[in-house]
Amino acid sequence: MAALTPEVTRLRLARLSPRLEGKILGNTIPAADGSALLVAGTILTLSFVRRLQSKGYRFVYVDDDVSSGIEPDEAIDAQTRSRAFEALRGSLKCIAERTPIDSGKVTEAVECIVDNIKQRAGITFSLATIRTLDEYTFVHSLNVCALAIIIGLESGLLGGQLTGLGVGALLHDVGKVIVPLNVLNKPNGLTPEEMALVKVHTLEGFQILRDQPGISLLSAHVALQHHERMDGTGYPRGLYGEEIHRYARIAAVADVMDALTSPRPYRTGVLPDQARRVVASLAGNQLDETFVDIILRRVCVFPSGSLIRLSSGETAVVSRQSPTDPARPVIRILTDRAGRTVAPYEMALDINPEAHIKAVLDELPSSPA
Ligand SMILES: [Fe+2]
Repeated sequence: MAALTPEVTRLRLARLSPRLEGKILGNTIPAADGSALLVAGTILTLSFVRRLQSKGYRFVYVDDDVSSGIEPDEAIDAQTRSRAFEALRGSLKCIAERTPIDSGKVTEAVECIVDNIKQRAGITFSLATIRTLDEYTFVHSLNVCALAIIIGLESGLLGGQLTGLGVGALLHDVGKVIVPLNVLNKPNGLTPEEMALVKVHTLEGFQILRDQPGISLLSAHVALQHHERMDGTGYPRGLYGEEIHRYARIAAVADVMDALTSPRPYRTGVLPDQARRVVASLAGNQLDETFVDIILRRVCVFPSGSLIRLSSGETAVVSRQSPTDPARPVIRILTDRAGRTVAPYEMALDINPEAHIKAVLDELPSSPA
């Protein structure tokens, strides 16, 4: 148990609810056009909370006393993220207008993501928890790209291979331009005709990318094959195992992992620990288990800043990730078993096997009188 030292950052992940009224917003929230919807430091009012909820946000970072020194562990920094969004937005516009996409800009954005991830080698990343329904396509594409690069790096891909994989992953769903929005966002089951229409996005994406100057044929294959499954149950061609290109097998793992955690118009995303269980259950049948193993090692279960409760009753905030076990981070104990506030102290769960996280909490419990 280490003593705490005061540091500058103070970020805690909190579920959006009226209970956040009066709290200080810890992260700047971008609007869809790249400007700021709310800037870090804003005092949250009920109307801000409602506005963020109406945009589809479920969590925000708040800045408060219990979170001194905690930094978010998202894989990509803000500058790289906006650069990738810009490249993606530009590409989708060109595809809609049937003009060539700026492949140089896309490649540069992917190279920045590769650099971001390489610089932070050995750490565990969280999937972006801060996202809206409006920007689903952008955030999902970027997360699939980042996750694919994390897997690619660990499985030994180098230089141009990583870029090719990343470009394919960033653009894997561009074929969805031909699927009407009312079908993509349909809340209930799709009819067979609508399902057939959705499936065509793989072939369409391949055709769009294959004809782009500066985009490799392998990147185009990520769009074509990312819904193929190891057991032959995928589409469009029902390929088996290694008939599916390695890049597409990597992208499939990244796509499933991120899609599970994403809020959609018809459902809320699941928490990272549930997503990990689902992805683990698909390893070996639908998804390539080598790549699933990597993602389970590198994506953390409890993002830094999350509030949790131990099975013994104490509440704590996740302070940072363990270098060895993504399910057992370092936590900062805030209350004792009876819920009384204590002087915060840290505990590394990877060396305290008797302690177990029982629940993720939405908000700090109020202290008993
Ligand atoms: Fe897709």
